[in-house]
Amino acid sequence: MSNFKDENIRFDLLRKYSANQWGRYPTDIIPLTAADPDFRAAEPIRKAIIDMAIDGVFSYGADGGNNDFRQACAVHVTKNKGIKCKPDEIHALNGVAQGMMLTCKTLLEPGDEAIIFDPVDFLFGKSIKAAGAKTVLSKIDWETLSFDLEGLKELVTPKTKMICVCNPHNPYGRVLNQSELRAMVDLANDHDLWIMSDEIWSDIVYDGRKHIPTATITDAIDRTITLYGFSKTYAMAGLQLGYAVIQNKDLMKRFKETSPGYLYPVNNVSQAAGRAALMEAGEWASNFIVHLEKIRDYVYERLSESPNVEVHKPEGTYVIFPKIHGMTSVEATDYLLEEAKVAVVPGHGEPFSYFGPGGEGHIRIVYSTSMSIIEEAMDRIVKALTKL
Ligand SMILES: Cc1ncc(COP(=O)(O)O)c(C=O)c1O
Repeated sequence: MSNFKDENIRFDLLRKYSANQWGRYPTDIIPLTAADPDFRAAEPIRKAIIDMAIDGVFSYGADGGNNDFRQACAVHVTKNKGIKCKPDEIHALNGVAQGMMLTCKTLLEPGDEAIIFDPVDFLFGKSIKAAGAKTVLSKIDWETLSFDLEGLKELVTPKTKMICVCNPHNPYGRVLNQSELRAMVDLANDHDLWIMSDEIWSDIVYDGRKHIPTATITDAIDRTITLYGFSKTYAMAGLQLGYAVIQNKDLMKRFKETSPGYLYPVNNVSQAAGRAALMEAGEWASNFIVHLEKIRDYVYERLSESPNVEVHKPEGTYVIFPKIHGMTSVEATDYLLEEAKVAVVPGHGEPFSYFGPGGEGHIRIVYSTSMSIIEEAMDRIVKALTKL
């Protein structure tokens, strides 16, 4: 547990290296924006990189990922996710974001439609749009955080080619249950749709919950591309690493054609670090989740007690998505930056919608940091919200 004590946050290093978060804001601001832990990566990950640097051989990697990396992923997925899989069913990625782009490029033609949930991380819409296709939104009810499973059928047209699952869900923190996944897979089977299942958050689940991979639902395997990553669990977002699990051989062939290794190679340093993460950083990750659960409880309690806020307790992820009364997302974000000196992400609005129209009125707070930083940030946020 010692890795997650307050004194283990190295502000000097964060300001130096975290260009997208701590390095980006003036020093009086607490940034809770990027879903990227403030803690340093586990020792075995750092050691793998040091060892490789000492060896000094930086050759080209193999197309689709090196054998030892894919082997480690296959063992991990089989053992920890319950998807029985072999190394040749793994394809290395430069992060899940790249996997989403490649999946859409592989499966969608211009003019096709793909169903996403609203709100959801902007990467879904962006990837679908990049393939020339259109996003069709299925709203998640804010009051109950339930998916409109009945309404999904009405969204399907002859142009619909794919449904996109984000589980656990960013930004609502929902962990999808068996019957929700069953309904999504049934829809895909009934209408011959592909499924892109982004499971980058699958390790971060609370209260003894178990993440269920979409591909383990009966009759889902052949139509599913599952994406796993390293950024959220292992504090190595800047190493740009992830992998796809594709068990349908023809689909894997098509995915490889879209992403030839010489165009999108994954660097060997990241693969060595990722292998070390999967093989040796399991205990670090488990302790991280124990720490996150305490922070989740604290943030939820503080926000629940605050005036002018509606909030749900996340079941997974380390993001929380409160609704702020009487303000748009952008107004609330600007207000908290100015008044509380805390940076958060707006749920929706100009110039950029992070989570789609369903995110309007909300802000997203990331809490993968130390207890003392969160206490200070929540004091400031609650004080500012009380003034409204
Ligand atoms: C749902 C989801 N998918 C993908 C990503 C990006 O993953 P990566 O860092 O592996 O590219 C994120 C990062 O926040 C995310 O929340």
